[in-house]
This record gives sequence, C-alpha cells and structure tokens, in this order.
Amino acid sequence: MKGLLLAGGYGTRLRPLTFTGNKHMIPVANKPILLYGLGHLRDAGIRDVAIVLGPVREGIQEVVGDGSSFGLRMTYIHQGEPKGLAHAVQCAREFLADSPFVMYLGDNLLQAGVRPFVRTFETEHPDAVIGATPVPEPRHYGVVELDGDRIVSIEEKPAHPKSNLALVGVYLFTPSVFEVIDHLRPSARGELEITEAIAGLIRAGRRVRVERVEGWWKDTGLPADLVEANDRVLATLTPGELPVHGEIRPGARVTGHVGLGRGTVVDAGAEIEGPAILGEDVRVGPGTRIGPGTAIGSGAVLTGCSVRRSILLDRVRIEGPVRLVDSIVGRDVTVRATRPSESEAQIVVGDAARILL
Ligand code: TTP
Repeated sequence: MKGLLLAGGYGTRLRPLTFTGNKHMIPVANKPILLYGLGHLRDAGIRDVAIVLGPVREGIQEVVGDGSSFGLRMTYIHQGEPKGLAHAVQCAREFLADSPFVMYLGDNLLQAGVRPFVRTFETEHPDAVIGATPVPEPRHYGVVELDGDRIVSIEEKPAHPKSNLALVGVYLFTPSVFEVIDHLRPSARGELEITEAIAGLIRAGRRVRVERVEGWWKDTGLPADLVEANDRVLATLTPGELPVHGEIRPGARVTGHVGLGRGTVVDAGAEIEGPAILGEDVRVGPGTRIGPGTAIGSGAVLTGCSVRRSILLDRVRIEGPVRLVDSIVGRDVTVRATRPSESEAQIVVGDAARILL
C-alpha cells in the first residue's frame, strides 16, 4: 500500500490569510495540518508516501525532507497547476505504479485516521474504499446516496443533494482507477473530479465500498474551519502530549491541560485555562487571560489582553485590553489596543500585519 498526500491546491478560500508558504503548513495545535495526514498514513502501516505539490511549495519539503524522521520514504510530485483531485492522481501515476494507494487530502483532519480504510480493503478486497459521514450542509461536498451499502449516486457539490452523506478527504484506490481517470473530461469548474472517477468505477462494474467514518472530520478550507479544528485537536490531546517545560510564576493561574514550551514564562497575574498550547519562548504578561481552544506559536508576547479559541502563529505581539475570539493571527503580527473594548473582537490576518485599535 502506498500513500498520496495532496497539497497542491490554491487555497483560495484562505486568501485573507496571506501566509508565506503553502497553506498546508498552517499550524493546528502548533503542528502543521499536513503532518496529521502524514502521521495517519504512517500509523496505517504505509511507508512509501508521495506529496503532491502545486504552485506554492515553500515550507513542505523543508520540514518533511526525505521522511526518515517520520519513519517514511518520501517522494515529491509536482502537479504544476491544481487541475483537480483526479488530475493529482494522474500526475502520481509513475510513483503509484501497480500498487493500491490511500489518497489523503492534506488540508483535512480525520480523527479516525486511515486504518479503517486499509482494514476494509484487506478483508473485502474491493476496487476502492471511500469514506462518508453525515454533514449539515452537504451541498459544499461530494455527496453519496446509498441504498443499504449500495451506492445509488455520487455527485460533486450538488445544488440539490440527494443525501446528507459527504465524502471525507480520504480515499483508497486500486490501479483500476486509472482506466477511468484516463477518460475523464474537465468538469464545469475546469477540474478532473475524483467523484467522477468514482462514478466511472461504479459504472464499469467495479466494487466501491463506503466506509462510515466514526469520530469527527474537518475540511480546513475556510478560516472558521481552522479555528474549529484547532479547538477539537486541543480537546483530544492528552497531558502527555502537552508537556510543561516553561515556567509558571507564583501568582499565575493555570488550569486544565496546558502545554508550555521551553523558555515560556507565565507571569504573576496572568491566567490560562486549557486546553491550550504555547510554543517556546512565549511571554504571557500580567493581566493576560488565555482561554480554552487557543494555540500560540513560539516567541509570542502577550500583555494585558485576552485570547480564546484562536490560533496565533510565531512571534505575534498583542498588547493592551483587546479581547480576541475565533481569530487567526499570522507570524510577526502586532496588535496594539489602547482602550478597553465592550465586546470580543475577531481578527483573521496573515503574516506581518500591524493593527492599532
Ligand atoms: P480543495 O479544498 O478542493 O482546493 P484548494 O486547496 O485549491 O482550496 P480552494 O478551494 O480554497 O481554492 O482541495 C482539497 C485538497 O486537495 C487540498 O489539500 C489541496 C489538494 N489539491 C491538490 O493537491 N490538487 C488539486 O488539483 C486540487 C484541486 C486540490
């Protein structure tokens, strides 16, 4: 079994966040999103993994390298233009050769991981395994309609969904998928659609199994999804995954699961309520309040502010009585508030911005 991790998209929906580098390196609970998928592939026993890269590549190869530190053998594939998920598979043809493979969308987080897909493949030997889970707004996703275990229809982002079952961002295919992909034409949005490839497999009489996904699944295409994913991942981390290396000064209050990196200092009069994670060399000054669901990168400095349910990247400075919620604040951003605000504020901003309130 091989792994194909997709990181080639434009990330248009994250455009307000002008981060340097590839969007899949945005941290969730202080770890780049892409590394969750990589870990799930490895945990399913897969060793050969290719990452598909698009026009914005920076940051991935530098961190993942040859994969040896993750227990993997890595290959990098250049998709050029991201012309669809099935196009990404086509670009990986030489790497995949005649092996079955798990395709993982690099901006997705699937609590249950990849193992159930591999297990179903090994016990039932279908031609493909796809994952589905009920969602409140199916028209934003690939939607599958079932009759028992039989797939009746499968459609990409339908205006009138025939069920509430969305396809999650993990798929298992055998090389039979290439027979279909080779005949695909671009959809109305100009992409080679993986849902069309799956529909083609079914039409060709191939066996496609639907795996009901247990636990939560998050597609982090929008900023609000990133904040929610961060909140959920933090809530599932164990105390062992949130080690305290930093210093909690007398007179500071830290409750719940809170991870503190080396060199991080929580001053007297500061308060942190977990689950939360703070990187290395963070300074939490007096009068600062950090609430649940917050991840703060290394080198950040916070004084006299409050932050909850937010992602702050490296070297963010927040000074003064602003109260942030559901925010994503890029690297090297300064937020300075001079007057107390009546209500909580949401800031979604990319790297190196300066905000004076
Ligand atoms: P999408 O979220 O469908 O697309 P995107 O990343 O371009 O984002 P947006 O819609 O905001 O422009 O992509 C799902 C995942 O698949 C994501 O991790 C990027 C990856 N991808 C590729 O690797 N190649 C592609 O051609 C496409 C469309 C996506």
